[in-house]
Amino acid sequence: MEPNPYTPGDIPRYLAGRDNELARVEVVLDRVAEGGPAGAPLVFVAPRGLGKTSLLRASEDLALPKGYAVAWVPCVKGQPVLADLVSAVERGLEQVGITPGMTSPRWESLRVEVGGRGLKATGEWVRPPQEESSPGRVLATEEVLRSAARTVRERGGAGLLLCLDELHAPALDETGVLLNALQALANERDVNPLVVLGAGLPSTPGHLTSAATFAERWDYAVLPALDAGASARALVQPAAEAGVRWAASALSLAEGYANGYPYLLQLVGAATWDVARPDAGGSIGPRHTEEGWEVARERLRTLFQGRWDAATAAEQAFLTAMATAGVSPVPRSTVAAALGVPTSSISQTRASLINKGIIARVSHGHLEFTMPGFAEHVREVSGNGG
Ligand SMILES: Nc1ncnc2c1ncn2[C@@H]1O[C@H](COP(=O)(O)OP(=O)(O)O)[C@@H](O)[C@H]1O
Ligand SMILES: [Mg+2]
Repeated sequence: MEPNPYTPGDIPRYLAGRDNELARVEVVLDRVAEGGPAGAPLVFVAPRGLGKTSLLRASEDLALPKGYAVAWVPCVKGQPVLADLVSAVERGLEQVGITPGMTSPRWESLRVEVGGRGLKATGEWVRPPQEESSPGRVLATEEVLRSAARTVRERGGAGLLLCLDELHAPALDETGVLLNALQALANERDVNPLVVLGAGLPSTPGHLTSAATFAERWDYAVLPALDAGASARALVQPAAEAGVRWAASALSLAEGYANGYPYLLQLVGAATWDVARPDAGGSIGPRHTEEGWEVARERLRTLFQGRWDAATAAEQAFLTAMATAGVSPVPRSTVAAALGVPTSSISQTRASLINKGIIARVSHGHLEFTMPGFAEHVREVSGNGG
């Protein structure tokens, strides 16, 4: 058997159907490399599993050969972000052969200013206490980004690409500091070869806007599910590289199961491969796919159960009303009617489920589940039949 080329939960070997998004990224990278303005940060928003991180990684791959240093910051729920930002900038510079400590003697003091962490004797990371007011931290953050971007340029590179993943997550206070620093840099007349890309759950615009109102003018791009052609390529390409082909009937089954959802494409692809155990020159048939889907569904059940258990009682009632409505997308009014309350009183629960990425607003007043199969799971666990 050839090694399994599918990557559920990991960066895909072949990124399908994101040409438009990558083209937008490339336009900005090229413009800034030529000394032009970066414009507002571009932020990709979508529920989990739609391919945001994969797209940011592909953007990084675009930027590196163009001469960018890349600072990659994986934001963490409720956690401060600035210390990680400084470390990420340092790593990005080192990757292109620049040691920031050597180029800027002020680096260490900047690091302390933005709340760089030290290691306690117990092995636990600790942060120095921060004052309420943060103009010092804003200036220091600006200086870190400005000096890094300019240093790359001075050494003949293009500039600095800052990738902020999970941007719905970081603690509000430091998010505000970061946004203010980015805003100040964007308003400078001098050349700042800094490109900012972000990704996060659908709650990201709300989170950023509550940290700093001007973030409502950032450029939010909703990352859609993959269309039929891209779904097929996501399955066919990795197999083709291993000399394995998908029978057309197998492919359309797998596409149907995944419904354009990138994580599901990888999951069903991987499970099918393990059933088929193909050698180079071999092929994948519909039986393999059907059996693979059964395995994939087991994995999904665990994932769905985790989401269900994490939901509040009100959210569970809402989800049950949606799952048993008998139509999709489900009108908001149908959910309210099933719960026996006026439409206005479900808006908070609806918003929290959208923010968690479990459901999505499809058109005015209509909602749907983001992940294929979750509705069935809800019917099962809520005792409304499979
Ligand atoms: N464009 C794509 N083509 C093929 N597979 C993809 C694509 N985007 C994402 N994936 C796959 O989908 C899964 C989720 O991707 P990820 O980037 O982690 O999503 P997110 O960050 O939105 O949660 C991963 O298994 C990844 O391999
Ligand atoms: Mg991600």
